[in-house]
Amino acid sequence: MKIIKSQIELDKLREESPSLSFVPTMGALHEGHLSLVHEALKQSDTALVSIFVNPTQFAPGEDLDSYPRTLDEDIRKLEEVGVQALWLPSVEDIYSNGVDADIHIAGVSEPLEGEYRPHFFDGVATVVARLFDSVKPDKALFGEKDFQQLQVIKKMAQELNMSIDIIGVPTVRDKNGLALSSRNLYLSETEYSIAIQLNKVLRELAHGDIDEDAACEKLLKIGFDKIDYCTVRNAETFTKEGDLTRVLAAVWLGRTRLIDNMPINV
Ligand code: PAF
Repeated sequence: MKIIKSQIELDKLREESPSLSFVPTMGALHEGHLSLVHEALKQSDTALVSIFVNPTQFAPGEDLDSYPRTLDEDIRKLEEVGVQALWLPSVEDIYSNGVDADIHIAGVSEPLEGEYRPHFFDGVATVVARLFDSVKPDKALFGEKDFQQLQVIKKMAQELNMSIDIIGVPTVRDKNGLALSSRNLYLSETEYSIAIQLNKVLRELAHGDIDEDAACEKLLKIGFDKIDYCTVRNAETFTKEGDLTRVLAAVWLGRTRLIDNMPINV
C-alpha cells in the first residue's frame, strides 16, 4: 500500500488510475470502515482511503483532542484488505488559509444533528469538498450509520455540480446489534450493556410497535442519560413533512454520544 503525503503523489495516483474510489475517514478504523473499503475495491481499479481528524467538525469542548488515533493498527488493517493507497493529509494541506469551515448546505443540514451540533455539517461539507478537490475521485463511499451526513454530502455534490458518484453503504453492527463507531471505544462495560439496547428500541419504533414518546421514555428507563432526539423523519429533508421513512436517534451515555438510524418497517 502506498502511503501518500503530498498533492504531487495524489496527482500521480489519479493519473495512473483508470477509475478511483475514495473512502474519507478520521481513522480508528473498524469493520464499518472496512465494509466501505471492500465496496470501493469492488467499484474501481484503485481504492484510496484518507485518514484526517478534521478540526472544523468538532466544537470547542468536544472530543477533538481525545478522538482515538490508532494509525499503526489502521495501516495494518488497510494492508490486510488490499487497499492500494492511504493519504494522510496534514491540517496545513487542508486548511492552508486557517482552520475555518466555509461551506453550508442549507435545508438538509439544519434539523436533528444540525440543531444539536450546529458547527458539524459545515465542517464536514468543507473538509469533504476539499478532500474531493485534491483527490478527484470517480466515486466516494460513506456509511449509512451517519445517514444525515450521507444526505448532506449527496446534496453538496449535486448542488456544486461535482461529478462524483456518492455511494451509501449499509451500517455494520456488532453481534449485539450496536452500530459500529470509533466512539464505542469510550464505552465502559456497563455503558456497553445499555448501548446495545438502542437498536432494539429503534427497531420497535421502526415497526410501529411504539411511538416516539414511548421510545424516548423506554431509552431513559433503560439507562441512557439524555436523548437529543429519537424520531421518525423524511429520509431526504429530515423534516416531519412528506413520507416519514427513517428512524433516527442521538443519545448520551455519560460523556459518549451515540447515533443510530434505520428505515421504517425493518
Ligand atoms: O464520517 C466521518 O468519519 C467524517 O465525518 C468524514 C466524512 C471523514 C469527514 O471528516
